[in-house]
This record gives sequence, structure tokens and C-alpha cells, in this order.
Amino acid sequence: MTTQPAHPEPESAAAVDAYLADLLAPADEALAGALADSEAAGLPGINVSATNGKLLHLIARVQGARRILEIGTLGGYSTIWLARALPADGTLITLEHSDRHAEVARANIARAGLDKVVEVRVGAALDSLPGLASEGRDFDLVFIDADKVNNPHYLEWALRMTHPGSVIVVDNVVRGGRVTNAGSTEGDVVGTRAALQFLADHPRLEATAIQTVGAKGHDGFALAYVSS
Ligand code: SAH
Ligand code: DHB
Ligand code: MG
Repeated sequence: MTTQPAHPEPESAAAVDAYLADLLAPADEALAGALADSEAAGLPGINVSATNGKLLHLIARVQGARRILEIGTLGGYSTIWLARALPADGTLITLEHSDRHAEVARANIARAGLDKVVEVRVGAALDSLPGLASEGRDFDLVFIDADKVNNPHYLEWALRMTHPGSVIVVDNVVRGGRVTNAGSTEGDVVGTRAALQFLADHPRLEATAIQTVGAKGHDGFALAYVSS
């Protein structure tokens, strides 16, 4: 008799993710095209997985989000999942540092029929965020998925532009387990640990974090509710 290992092998985790994605988060022309054209343009394959994209979509739906902010666009794959959750009058603003990534994303977003819904703003997010705040923007959902070192700053800006009932999602908070290393000097780990501490300490936030294993290896996301 064979016994199940305590932890899935990476290959089996990826196979399970593929099975679940085919069943519950199948690609259509816009999603498959976004990934294919991102890869053809040489963008790194660091988009969320299909099951994770569907989860973002469902979080937005459950919440009834009408205004979404995304920090870190890449080729617009997560953008498409999120924007598809919006009602007819909903809008999504996504911030991207790279001109090239933004150009690929705009084409992918247009093919998905979402160019009237989504605005891609190019520049370092820390340069774009003050402008959004001075425009008086208020978001129901913020998805933070750019340079991890700045995650504490992105959380502060997110809190300024949200309201009780808003949701904040922070991607990549596990990084293959490196996040547990309190002595790490790696920027992504330092930024992520500070972001998780911020979530733990902030009186207006209720948060948790979930580690994930699947198509994108071992990582995770944090989910925070703006409670007051
Ligand atoms: N959300 C995307 C993946 C984003 S990858 C998806 O799941 O499909 C991270 C993106 O953040 C990259 O495109 C990178 O160029 C961008 N980025 C990195 N530093 C940034 C910064 N300071 N401001 C804005 N975007 C940044
Ligand atoms: C990286 C960034 C991401 O947003 C992600 O989901 C995976 C990896 C990275 O910068 O390596
Ligand atoms: Mg990510």
C-alpha cells in the first residue's frame, strides 16, 4: 500500500492546478491571447495563475466592487479577470512602471473589450498614487502586485483611498517560504514582512494570508478588509 506524502510534490501541485483551472477557470480567447502575446513580447511569466485570477474575480464579485485599483499591470492578465467582475458602470485603474508592459497590456485589454473600463497609467506607482489621491479617488478593491519592496507604502496609499467595506489583496507574500526569514535583507522579503506587520497592527484592517501551491510554485496572498 502506498501512502500519500505529507506535502505534494511540485509536479503534482501543478497538475492539480491545471485540472482545477481547466474545470473552473478555463481560458477564453482574451485570457489565452493575453498570456500568449505577453510571452511573445518577452514579458516574464509572473502573472497570477488562472485559479488565482478567478479568485480575484470572485472576490470582486462577492464584494460588489465598482471601483478597482491595481498596482502592477504586467500584460493585463489579472486586470482582465478583475475588470470582468465590474458592473456596467464600473472602472479599473491599473498602474505600471514599464512602458513596454503597459503597451502589451493595453492591446490585451482592448481585445478583451475592456478598454472603456480600464485605464492604464504608466509610471512608478509611488509617483502615480499621489495624483489618484488628489483626484479624490475612492476604491472598493485594491490589488497590490508590483515591486514587493514598496508594499508597505502601497498599503498606506490604499488605506487613504478606500472606505469601510473595501478590500485589499496583496500578492506574493510567501515567496517560496523566504518570508519566514526575519533576518533577510532581500528587498521583497523585507517589504513583504513589513506589509504583513502593517496588516497585523493597523486598527482599521482585518487581515489574513493564505499560502498557495500550484502552477506558480509556492507563494501566497494576503486579504485585508477595511473595517472602519
Ligand atoms: N498583476 C499582474 C502581474 C504583475 S507583475 C498579473 O498578475 O497579471 C509586476 C508588475 O509590476 C511588472 O509589470 C512590473 O513592471 C511592475 N512594476 C514593478 N515596479 C513597479 C513600480 N514601482 N510601479 C509600478 N509598477 C511596477
Ligand atoms: C514576481 C512578481 C509577481 O507579481 C509574481 O506574481 C511572481 C513573481 C517577481 O517579481 O519575481
Ligand atoms: Mg504577483
